Amino acid sequence: MADCKDYGFMTRALHEGWNCDPATGALGLPIYATAAYQFHDGAHAARLFNLEEEGFTYSRIANPTVKAFEDTLASLEGGVGAVALSSGQAALAHIVAALCEAGTNVVVSRKVYGGTLTLLQNLFSRFGVEAILVDGDHPCQAEQAVNDGTRAIFTETIGNPVINVAPLEALARIAKRQGVPLVVDNTFASPALCRPIEWGAHIVFHSTTKYISGFGNIVGGAVIDGGNFDWAAWADKFPGLAKPDAGYHGVTFTERFGRAAFAAKLRASILRDLGGCPSPFDAYLLRMSLGTLALRMKRHSENALEIARFLENHPQVEWVRYPGLESHPQHDMAEVYLKDGCGGMMAVEVKGGVDAGRRFVDALKMIHHAANLGESRTLVTHPASTTHSQLAPEQRRAAGISDGMLRLSVGIEDARDIIADLERGLAAAR
Ligand SMILES: Cc1ncc(COP(=O)(O)O)c(C=O)c1O
Repeated sequence: MADCKDYGFMTRALHEGWNCDPATGALGLPIYATAAYQFHDGAHAARLFNLEEEGFTYSRIANPTVKAFEDTLASLEGGVGAVALSSGQAALAHIVAALCEAGTNVVVSRKVYGGTLTLLQNLFSRFGVEAILVDGDHPCQAEQAVNDGTRAIFTETIGNPVINVAPLEALARIAKRQGVPLVVDNTFASPALCRPIEWGAHIVFHSTTKYISGFGNIVGGAVIDGGNFDWAAWADKFPGLAKPDAGYHGVTFTERFGRAAFAAKLRASILRDLGGCPSPFDAYLLRMSLGTLALRMKRHSENALEIARFLENHPQVEWVRYPGLESHPQHDMAEVYLKDGCGGMMAVEVKGGVDAGRRFVDALKMIHHAANLGESRTLVTHPASTTHSQLAPEQRRAAGISDGMLRLSVGIEDARDIIADLERGLAAAR
């Protein structure tokens, strides 16, 4: 295998994680459709189970096809290790399970994906982990909210669905000062446009269902360990990482795995116990999609900027929120964190409220009205009636979601065809 660490992003996306099959010379990544692995002998099995040697025991914990995807993604995000999960929600749940226990809390930006809020506020709260919601656009609010029980600060690089840009460096500085990791959901930007670890984030996660897959053909998630948080310095807060782990016959993850302690803990302990593993077939598709991620994100960004400008000047549109537009409140920050492009996601308010929004989506011919994003085809969603419908109206308002707001996921088709369909929708909304 070539040493890829000095290669550029595109080269690593193609060459990292998998070279060729040493037995057959096959260049394609095999789909290792297996649950278990033959041990060389009893001593080998014992070494694997004692975490003294890297290898494969059972595909809930690790699988060679999944590993090829994980190693490639870790390299692209600039992390020391990655763990793939069965969905973005599974990724978040495994992170919280690794960091928190009853009586602790997480500080979370309220402008995040509705599923993140429901998981933290409704499910984890039943296990004694509180979610403290703040306006993540104002880092001082996050700092004021942190207390002795806090175990992480959560944000999204680009927020779903209000398309705000997170002040990554300020949040990372606060997290470091307070002795908690900054955890960033990088789904909307992808590592092709922003690598939060370079700006000080400690843990990154993805719904790989979106841009990383790119074709809407799988549901998946992944967590990347930045290797830059000093767990041992905060051992009382993170005993599962920095003290002997009773769940793993006394292993201290920071001592055994050094900078990659969090990824090791997540895999060997949390994934082993919770079991949210992906299928090797999905990992195969994801590893392939990473090869074109940078090309796709460039095209998504170019199309989206053209469409945002078209919509902003349209008389039927109340407002457009896209970080690439000068009118976006955090455009300056986007120029720093998203200098290679702002991706394909935008929020649009069509004049006329809910009814106009409904007429708009019903008139579309090419653009799909669907509850997904980050596909190569353009999609539109009405958050108030779909992704955020489980939130109370006042929670939606606090999260910045108006009733007529549409979330547009601009694809990589020809921009003029997308615009023609949008014109159809806007004419019907009038
Ligand atoms: C930003 C973001 N994070 C996480 C998730 C959850 O991911 P999944 O649907 O793969 O569980 C979503 C889903 O839409 C999302 O948009």
